[in-house]
Amino acid sequence: MTKTPHLRRAMLFMPGDSLRKIEKAIGLGADSIVMDLEDGVAFSQKAAARHTIVQALQTLDFGRSERLVRMNPVGSELAEDDLRSTITGRPAGYVLPKAEFAEQVEMLAEFLTLEERARGWPAGQIKILPIVETALGVMNVREIALADPRVDALLFGAEDLAGDMGAVRTSAGWEVFYARSAVVMAAKAYRLQAIDQVYFDLNNLEGFEAECQTGRQMAYDGKMVIHPRQAEIAQRVFAPSPEEIQRAQRIVQAHEEAQAAGLGAFALDGRMVDMPVVRMAEQVLSKAKAAVNGDR
Ligand code: COA
Ligand code: MG
Repeated sequence: MTKTPHLRRAMLFMPGDSLRKIEKAIGLGADSIVMDLEDGVAFSQKAAARHTIVQALQTLDFGRSERLVRMNPVGSELAEDDLRSTITGRPAGYVLPKAEFAEQVEMLAEFLTLEERARGWPAGQIKILPIVETALGVMNVREIALADPRVDALLFGAEDLAGDMGAVRTSAGWEVFYARSAVVMAAKAYRLQAIDQVYFDLNNLEGFEAECQTGRQMAYDGKMVIHPRQAEIAQRVFAPSPEEIQRAQRIVQAHEEAQAAGLGAFALDGRMVDMPVVRMAEQVLSKAKAAVNGDR
């Protein structure tokens, strides 16, 4: 479904000024490690966080984890310093919060293009991952998705959106459901990955897992997570389970036999199988394959 095979089942965020948490995250092997410069870092610590992130990028072995930096919003007074300092550590990409206009993505892309050229790095390699988390961002999600080929995932931020709208966050989540749905729809329409909202209750792992399941059912590919316990659960839930893989294999095999016998639709375990069901099964198998290969 997506134009790149990078797995981002768990995108683990931590404050950029905490080297300890960065090291901890590397040890966990989360698919993506997002070192934050935005809302997880106090204003007095922004400079220290930039320094720590560069040090981490230059000295630590991230293994198979993707190395990402969450900058401050393009247009804020912090963004330029965030970029000028952290680019020296050559991150794999930037998470761009509060994305609202294509121009913000384009400005960031232009900066990256110039830096890649000046430093002799391959062109277009550094990714941009916009977070859609304001009412305006939701209305403009299409232009954000299409702004630049560096964009290969859309992230959905429920908490900031609720704050922006003046909505009240509830556990059922209906207040953000339209937006949560709109972001994944745009992502799938333009063949991007979709990454689901943060779950704030660190101690409610059952609630967290249920929210992972809902996100996955909606076609989200992964989730933003804020604690090692959440990361482990998301890495598991956003990969197909052994039962799902087995069922998908049976469907594909039965489909091949049916085709050979000249049948388009057939019954398997009392349920009708035709092309949409087969396509879903094929997607399960390709996700499972990516998870086994650890594709990046
Ligand atoms: N990434 C990596 N390691 C983390 C982590 C994270 N996001 N959150 C906690 N840990 C580590 C802690 O360092 C601790 O390990 P240690 O004892 O060896 O140092 C261990 O996991 C257990 O942590 P715990 O005591 O349960 O949590 P805490 O009270 O230290 O931290 C938070 C709670 C919320 C401050 C922390 O989870 C956090 O910083 N989360 C991310 C916040 C963030 O980035 N927000 C912005 C994006 S939405
Ligand atoms: Mg936010």
